[in-house]
Order: sequence, then structure tokens, then C-alpha cells
Amino acid sequence: MTSLLLPPKAVHQGDLILVNADHPYHPLSPPDLLPVAGTEILLERRAAQALDRLMSAIGGWEKIVPVSGWRSQAEQQTIWEDSLRENGLDFTQTYVARPGCSEHQTGLAIDLGLQSSHIDFIRPAFPYQGICQTFRQAMAKYGWIQRYPEGKEHITGIGHEPWHFRYVGTPHAAIMAARGFTLEEYIVWLRSFPYGTCRYQDQNFALSFLPAASHGPTAILLSSNYSYTFSGNNADGFLLTEWGNLHD
Ligand code: DAL
Ligand code: ZN
Repeated sequence: MTSLLLPPKAVHQGDLILVNADHPYHPLSPPDLLPVAGTEILLERRAAQALDRLMSAIGGWEKIVPVSGWRSQAEQQTIWEDSLRENGLDFTQTYVARPGCSEHQTGLAIDLGLQSSHIDFIRPAFPYQGICQTFRQAMAKYGWIQRYPEGKEHITGIGHEPWHFRYVGTPHAAIMAARGFTLEEYIVWLRSFPYGTCRYQDQNFALSFLPAASHGPTAILLSSNYSYTFSGNNADGFLLTEWGNLHD
């Protein structure tokens, strides 16, 4: 056994952080950004690399273009204000997150569009057919989800966005896709597996939720038989993935 101390601020870090109107983004350090498909559009390193692998597997960049990736707070503010002026409050609240509450600010989200002579910056076309649908069918394996699905607007607080994708990593994207969970729902569901009491177990991994200590760092004992990945939930705890043959 080894023990690990997770500092309070780590709650706001990781691939599974929930960023929405109720959970603003807490930037802790400058994101580690990489360009997407040779453009000036940037994504956080792990997201950029996973997108690259996904696009290589499906030949995606032949017909899909990146439209918007990482945004600074100032850029999100400009997009919000421009949209308010051009489209009004209803449209803007539906399709633009308030500055400070956009997951584009994390570098883990990207808007994609089908290549065309005119691409709408806020609502690019990304149809449920052809190469765009091939992208959707392949994305879970590479850690990507469609973040704002139709019918879940009351949960996400954002309108249906066929073009907006979020990197959450594996195995999370596949579980969310299989169960039809938004990130909001997934974060709540994981709370039913408190670390040390029970866990969601699959062949090669197990998931659990570790509440953050009310004061100071959160301590956790780890078995040396497994490897672990952690993410904060951007609220009050950590989502823990144990990797290894859990049937030993
Ligand atoms: N379009 C999404 C909601 C954003 O602005 O972050
Ligand atoms: Zn977006």
C-alpha cells in the first residue's frame, strides 16, 4: 500500500471536471496546449492527441474542420458580448456559456464543422450522417463525448449542439455513451460508488468517488497491484479509476 495526498485545489483539475453555469472553471495553471490539425486552434495536450488519433483512424480531417477549441476568458467574454448584440439574450444563453463557465476555457472541448464555403462560428453544421456520424460512432473509444445532446437541455443548461465535443478520457466516454449520460449525470452516478465501500467494476478497471476532505488535503491509500488515474469533479471530490486485472 502507498498513501497519496490530494491537495484541495486538485478538485478543479482533470479530464472529468464538470464546467457549467453552476460550476465555473477554476484555472490553476496555464493549460498545456497543442495546435489542432496544423491550425491556430488549440486544445489541451491529451485532448489534442486523442483527437489526432481519432481523426487518423477515420480520415476525418479530409472533410471536417476545427472551428473553436481552447478559449481564454477574454475570448469567451467577446463571443458572449458579440452574440448578445447580434443574436439577443435567448439565443446567446442557449448556445454560448457565460464567460468563466465555458468548458472551452479548459482546453478539453472543441467545436467541429463539416468543411464548406461558409462555416457558422457559433453553430457550425455537423450533421448526423456521413463523416460527421462516423466521427460520433468512433469517438468514445478515443475518450470523446457529444456534450450537449438533444433532450438533455434541462440538465446541461445548453441547447442541442451537434458540433460541440468534450474530451473526458477512457473508459468514461464509453460508459457515458452506453448509458446515455451527460457529464452532469455521470458525475452524480459515480457518487453511488464511494471509494472503500463499493466500486463500479469492469474487466480491466474500477471506478469510485472519493469525497474531498472538508479541510486540507484528501488522503487515500492505494494498492500497489493497480495503477490509478484521478480527476477532480470541479465541486467536492475526486473520481478515481483503478486499472489492472481486478479479478486477481
Ligand atoms: N457553446 C458552448 C456552450 C460554450 O460557449 O462553451
Ligand atoms: Zn463549443
